Amino acid sequence: MRFECSSEVEQKLQMARKNFSYSSTLLIVLLTVGSFFATYNLITMAIHNKMLNSGGLSNDPDFTMPDNMERSTGTKALFHVALTAVAHPYSQWQSRIMYYWYKRMKSMAGSEMGSFTRILHSGQPDNLMDEIPTFVVDPLPDDRGYIVLNRPWAFVQWLKRATIEEEYIMMAEPDHIFINPLPNLARGIVPAGFPFNYILPSEYEEIIRKYFPKENGPITNVDSIGNSPVIIRKDLLEKIAPTWMNVSIRMKDDPEADKAFGWVLEMYAYAVASALHGVKHILREDFMLQPPWDTETGKRFIIHYTFGCDYNMKGELTYGTIGEWRFDKRSYWNVSIPRNLSMPPPGVPESVVTLVKMVNEATANIPNWDIE
Ligand SMILES: *[C@@H]1O[C@H](CO)[C@@H](O)[C@H](O)[C@H]1NC(C)=O
Ligand SMILES: *[C@@H]1O[C@H](CO)[C@@H](O)[C@H](O)[C@H]1NC(C)=O
Ligand SMILES: *[C@@H]1O[C@H](CO)[C@@H](O)[C@H](O)[C@H]1NC(C)=O
Repeated sequence: MRFECSSEVEQKLQMARKNFSYSSTLLIVLLTVGSFFATYNLITMAIHNKMLNSGGLSNDPDFTMPDNMERSTGTKALFHVALTAVAHPYSQWQSRIMYYWYKRMKSMAGSEMGSFTRILHSGQPDNLMDEIPTFVVDPLPDDRGYIVLNRPWAFVQWLKRATIEEEYIMMAEPDHIFINPLPNLARGIVPAGFPFNYILPSEYEEIIRKYFPKENGPITNVDSIGNSPVIIRKDLLEKIAPTWMNVSIRMKDDPEADKAFGWVLEMYAYAVASALHGVKHILREDFMLQPPWDTETGKRFIIHYTFGCDYNMKGELTYGTIGEWRFDKRSYWNVSIPRNLSMPPPGVPESVVTLVKMVNEATANIPNWDIE
């Protein structure tokens, strides 16, 4: 297992020097170093065979030690791309762009992307059934006004009822754009996830401990991840998904957890649920990039456009105030994003330029873009 940590640190530092204040630089260094140590911990723990606790997974015949995890070249371990979505214009236009780029990247060299399913948790078909392979599942009877609480329940239903050829599953979201052909980043039974800098289990130890009691191990067993993007073996996800659903509903009904975790509650719930099953993830910072904070696409695999990108005409970031030029998915709530968005002014980072180009390319080529 090779991780290009030092070059990653250098690259990050260069970007950071150019673009960020001292405190952001420090944060990035800490995050990079943190994910290195998390990876290091994973290896150490696997060697000490502590990684997989009471679930008995260490007896799994497919479990291999990290040293042997690199697959021999030529064998592909395909993963099924599973996108959870709803029948609402906001989710639909993003899903269409996401599926367009999946199709473009799937057949390229290096890809281990298998087939694709949009898991539609609106309970009934929508107008994209012919455009995107879709599996309809039921929403929760009561989502407590928090729509993403439906995600774990959607996965539970889909895994139970669908025929899935691939051994691995990738959990994806509509605001993901594949920018490079994605290989299977999981290794054997060890799944891969993206380390989010805003998922901090150790900072909420008291709350996490309600769901992850001491006997399950140290709080650091809870990864700084959400369910997406994650590439994981299907049999493991089948075990984790019901627990994830249970933990998310209990957290949502717990005012303290609900207040602390807010809109990322279901991410914490996945992190806790997988830890309860003794599963730790390989943390891959190159899984994804998040404009405007990450300024270069480089060799990463997915653009996650969850943050608004606001700039003035000098190309300076005006995050938090509406820019003279802006790209924000939230601007297109009731309607599809228009074709041919204006390109950002000179000086705006490459990651943002690439994002707009890729959105424009998709909307230009998807037939009937404007017909809803
Ligand atoms: C979660 O699981 C526990 C233990 O099995 C059970 O008592 C509880 O009712 C479940 N909660 C939900 C919301 O499913
Ligand atoms: C979006 O839809 C809601 C509810 O139908 C409506 O109140 C709102 O004005 C709409 N917004 C836009 C920008 O069309
Ligand atoms: C896209 O918009 C630009 C102006 O921003 C215009 O020059 C160009 O012709 C438009 N392209 C298409 C295909 O509509």
